[in-house]
Amino acid sequence: MSRLRVPRSRTGSRVHGVGVYRPTRVVGNDEICARIDSSDEWIRRRSGIVTRHFAGPDETVITMATEAARKAMAQAGTDQGDVDMVLLASMSFLEQAPAAAPRVARALGVDAGALDINAACAGFCYSLALANTLVRTSEAHTVLVIGSEKMSDITDPEDRSSAFVFGDGAGAVVVGPSEEPGIGPVVWGSDGEGHRLIAHNGSWLSTRHTSRPWPTLRMAGPEVFRWATRVVPEVSRRALDAAGLDVTDLAAFIPHQANVRIIDSVARTLGLAPHTVVAKDIVRAGNTSAASIPLAMDDLLSQGRLTSGDPALLVGFGAGLTYAAQVVMLP
Ligand code: UT7
Repeated sequence: MSRLRVPRSRTGSRVHGVGVYRPTRVVGNDEICARIDSSDEWIRRRSGIVTRHFAGPDETVITMATEAARKAMAQAGTDQGDVDMVLLASMSFLEQAPAAAPRVARALGVDAGALDINAACAGFCYSLALANTLVRTSEAHTVLVIGSEKMSDITDPEDRSSAFVFGDGAGAVVVGPSEEPGIGPVVWGSDGEGHRLIAHNGSWLSTRHTSRPWPTLRMAGPEVFRWATRVVPEVSRRALDAAGLDVTDLAAFIPHQANVRIIDSVARTLGLAPHTVVAKDIVRAGNTSAASIPLAMDDLLSQGRLTSGDPALLVGFGAGLTYAAQVVMLP
C-alpha cells in the first residue's frame, strides 16, 4: 500500500523580529470632537485615548503592511527567499477580493503563499497561531504575520459611540524555526451569538444597488466592554496554563488595545505581578484592531522596557465575537 511522505515536524518556532508602520498624521481628541458631542476629558477618562493616527490617501492597508513587514524582516535578518507564507490580518481592506496579502508579498519581493484573515481585533493572535503550526509542522519555513488596518475607512466620524475609538496602522512579525519553543499553544474561540455587537450599519450589497452611504462600524460599547472583562481573564489564564507558566512568570501583558479601563480591569483580575509590564499603546494609537498587539509589542521593545526572550501574554478579542491568546517569547 502506498504511504504519503510527510515532512518531519520541528519542535519549536518563535518570533524573530517585529516591525510597525504608524501613519504620519496624528489626530488629537479635539479634532474628533469637532464632529461629535464629546470632549477631550471624556474620551481620556472613558477610554484612555489621547491621540490616534489616521492614514492619508497613499497610506493603505497594503502599503502599511508592506512597510511593517519590511522592518520586521530587517530586524529578524530574514531573506526574501526564506519567506514562504504571508498571513495578513485585517477587517478594513475594502476591496475584499482579490486579497491584500499577495500584493504585500509582491511588494516585498517574496515568492510565497499569501492570504488575508479576518478575525477582527483577534486577527493577529489567530494568524500567529496558524503561523506557529505551519512552521512547527514544516509546512512553511518562515511566515510573515501582519496586522494592518485603515479603520478610518470604516468608521463614521459622526457616530458618537465609536468615532473616537479607532485608529490606523500596521504591525508585523517574522515567525520561523527555533530550537526552543517560543510560541505557546493558542486558546481561541468565538461567539457568533454576539455578532451584532460590533457590526456594519448596512449591507455592502444594498450600497451597490441603491444610493445608500457606504456602511460603517457600529459598536454596542458597554455590552462589548462587559463581555471583554469577563472573557479575557478566563482565556488568558487558559493560555498561561497551556504554556505551563504562572502569572508571575510574565514579563509583559500585551492585550488588544481596546480601552485602558479594560486593560486595567483584566490586569487586576489576573493578579499580574508588579514586575509585569502592561502595554498601553492605545493612549497614543487608539484601537487599531488587528494591528494593535504588534504595535504595542514594538512600542515596549523600542522603549527598552522589555528585552528579547522575555515571556509575554498576548490576547486578542473583538468583533465576531472572536478571541485568541498565547504566550510568546519576545523577539
Ligand atoms: O476592539 C474590539 C473590542 N472593543 C471593545 O472592547 C470596546 C469596549 N467598549 C468601550 O471601550 C466603551 O464602551 C466605550 C469607550 C466605547 C464607551 O465608553 P462607556 O463608558 O461604555 O460609555 P457609554 O456608552 O456607557 O456611555 C456613558 C455615558 C452616556 O451618558 P449617560 O446616559 O450616562 O448620561 C453616554 O450618552 O456617556 C455618554 N457618551 C458620551 N459622552 C461624551 C457616550 N459617548 C460619548 C462621547 N462623549 N463620545
